[in-house]
Amino acid sequence: MKDAPTIGVFDSGFGGLTVLRALTERMPLARFVFVGDTARLPYGSKSRRTVARYAAESAQFLVREQGAQFLVIACNTASALALDAIQDAVPVPVLGVIEPGAQAARRASATGDVLVMATDATVQSHAYAAACGAQGLRAMEKACPLLVPLVEEGWTEHAVTEEVVRVYLGELLAEAEAREMDADTLVLGCTHYPLLRPVIERVLEGLPRSPNARDRGHPRLMRVIDSAQSTAEAAARLFDGAAAGPDAGGSAQTEIRCFATDSVEKFERLGSRFLGRPVGKVELLDLGG
Ligand code: DGL
Repeated sequence: MKDAPTIGVFDSGFGGLTVLRALTERMPLARFVFVGDTARLPYGSKSRRTVARYAAESAQFLVREQGAQFLVIACNTASALALDAIQDAVPVPVLGVIEPGAQAARRASATGDVLVMATDATVQSHAYAAACGAQGLRAMEKACPLLVPLVEEGWTEHAVTEEVVRVYLGELLAEAEAREMDADTLVLGCTHYPLLRPVIERVLEGLPRSPNARDRGHPRLMRVIDSAQSTAEAAARLFDGAAAGPDAGGSAQTEIRCFATDSVEKFERLGSRFLGRPVGKVELLDLGG
């Protein structure tokens, strides 16, 4: 068996911890270094150029200073806007979350019509429409810019969040219906959104059925997927089982080192909830302005 690798993972904030969690479950023997660029969040409202610069800085820190041999961009926005820029910035393999997300959508959808909730920047890039199109799927994307701040606030179970989700989903389903889509799968196209999955599923359950909706397009039958699991599977495949370990399913012993560019106390407090185990001591990292 090959030596267990050091894997660098980054996102603008807590969202990437949903991917990190899936990675540690798949590859418990790897060593993980995580960066949450909380000082410069949200990425989802910024330009391609700015996101590419921020993402390249995190990538270079992980590779040059932390010895990462492989990077997982646990951020849809950076994956959509800056995958090439990140690949150019570091001499190690880089895996984004959009491709695995589209592959998971293809496995989940019977009708070939999928809905995508994502940040403004991801939606404007149409990265999901392109990746889903390459899988033979038709995708309708919806920007949901209020959701990342609500998650960063820890409001994952809150009446305000539920109302916001209801408005976004109601609009998305209405737009899909207006285009006569027969959507049966909802992709959470931002790594923050799996933290809202219970709220999203509850809202889908309660949304009224439109008289014109076909059976499969009923919100209650919508499959909700995110790219965390399929990204972790793709990463594990690349390492050919090198870090799989005997206890697949996760290990509290997996070595994780976390950095945040701001609010380390908040990251320690809320991060453990999102990672499903204590994040430990979070170190403050200065990546510049
Ligand atoms: N979690 C990130 C994503 O997957 C970005 C959130 C943000 O900073 O806007 O898109």
